[in-house]
Amino acid sequence: MNLSKFITLAAATTLYFAAVSLPSYAQDSNYTVTDGNKLDAVSYGGFKLYRNWCARCHGTYGQGMVGPNLANSLKNISKNQFFKTVANGKSGNIGSMPPWKANVKVMEGRDSIYAYLKARADGAIGAVKPKKAK
Ligand code: HEC
Repeated sequence: MNLSKFITLAAATTLYFAAVSLPSYAQDSNYTVTDGNKLDAVSYGGFKLYRNWCARCHGTYGQGMVGPNLANSLKNISKNQFFKTVANGKSGNIGSMPPWKANVKVMEGRDSIYAYLKARADGAIGAVKPKKAK
């Protein structure tokens, strides 16, 4: 093997391992999905809050509308960043989201909204309406 081939291979290997070892924040996940669409009580509560306050901009299934796809966002941002963004809002390249810190329901439910969106981010629930597990 010549040197340039070796370097290419080494670079590709490094990239591969960098890609697979990106943080997934899976440790923050806290949801249960059964039968494809039945959520545990906490993340179902998150779905209801999401539907009331977030879906009009981020889409029924978190797929994005005027706001970005949150199922994708949650693969890249930490739980802490999520909490901060929801509290303080965000203005960027896509548009502007108002802060939610004055909304007690949203603020108290951030954990459950996160759990619900994490289930979407992980693909644990598809583009279907969630139900509450009995
Ligand atoms: C009025 C429309 C609107 C509503 C309602 C809204 N958002 Fe947003 N949100 C946006 C926009 C626009 C952005 C993108 C800002 C930018 O980066 O340009 C955004 C960004 C975000 C981000 C950051 C995503 C990232 O990749 O950094 C999070 C997290 C988020 N919103 C969560 C929520 C949650 C949770 C709710 C409900 C409590 C909500 N949003 C309600 C418009 C909205």
